Amino acid sequence: MNLRGRSVTIKDAKEIEAMRRVGRMAAETLCLVDELIQPGITTAEINEFVHRDTLRRGAIPAPLNYTGGGGMPPFPASVCTSVNDVICHGIPGPQRLVAGDIINVDITHIFDGFHGDTSATFYVGEPGRDALHVTEVARRCLQLGLAQVRPGARLGDIGFAIQQFAEAQGCSVVRKFVGHGIGRRFHEDPQVEHYGRPGTGLRLKPGMIFTIEPMVNLGHYEIDLWDDEWTAVTADGSLSAQFEHTVLVTDTGHEVLTQRPTRLLRSERFEGYFDTRP
Ligand code: MF3
Ligand code: CO
Ligand code: CO
Repeated sequence: MNLRGRSVTIKDAKEIEAMRRVGRMAAETLCLVDELIQPGITTAEINEFVHRDTLRRGAIPAPLNYTGGGGMPPFPASVCTSVNDVICHGIPGPQRLVAGDIINVDITHIFDGFHGDTSATFYVGEPGRDALHVTEVARRCLQLGLAQVRPGARLGDIGFAIQQFAEAQGCSVVRKFVGHGIGRRFHEDPQVEHYGRPGTGLRLKPGMIFTIEPMVNLGHYEIDLWDDEWTAVTADGSLSAQFEHTVLVTDTGHEVLTQRPTRLLRSERFEGYFDTRP
């Protein structure tokens, strides 16, 4: 996303409360999407559900007609649905999910002027070995990135933790898209790269709010962009997975603002995955 080079905002208590509210709301919608994911559903049907559920909450779906801060054609739907080799910004349509697919659903609500941004990758039926690997690596990458978030830590610490793990697992981290500050605007400073060197980059302060949203490819990190100017796919056709949370830097560490009220049955099914591997 294009960030317009403004400075990083520190949110006050009222703004943090509003970000908690909208973050929780986006997470709730994501939990309901979980129940829809099954072979045969189309991504357009997921979009219709998210659109309706967002409005029902009195919120606005931030993706709809979003222009990326200008220069992009308006995004034509209320949610991003990214299937298999689609890295991010997949546009919902007639595509029917089939068993073995993986799909990232990325939800952003606006409520009371503030944005909450969260996504997860879901398994459609039983995953094959590659789909399972890239998805579990991406899930762990987000956890490792979040674990770095506390006052005094640097953005490079987050990127390093993510890159280190993804590459040790034989995967790659997408460079072209990054996490971002978030608040009254969808995409604010800073840019949160999911790769980097420890001890470098912006120093985190209490009151900062940003997303961490690693996109992990099974093959190379290079991307191709479709003619629709949104859909980003892996250049080598390999599978890609992503998870995203909106996180607040607190006095003592961090608070995930998009924490889910319930477990995602279609996503969180392989908790022991790394226990049984060297
Ligand atoms: N939700 C995406 C992100 O995490 C941005 C989607 S922009 C859209 O930053 F226009 F495609 F919705
Ligand atoms: Co985001
Ligand atoms: Co998002």
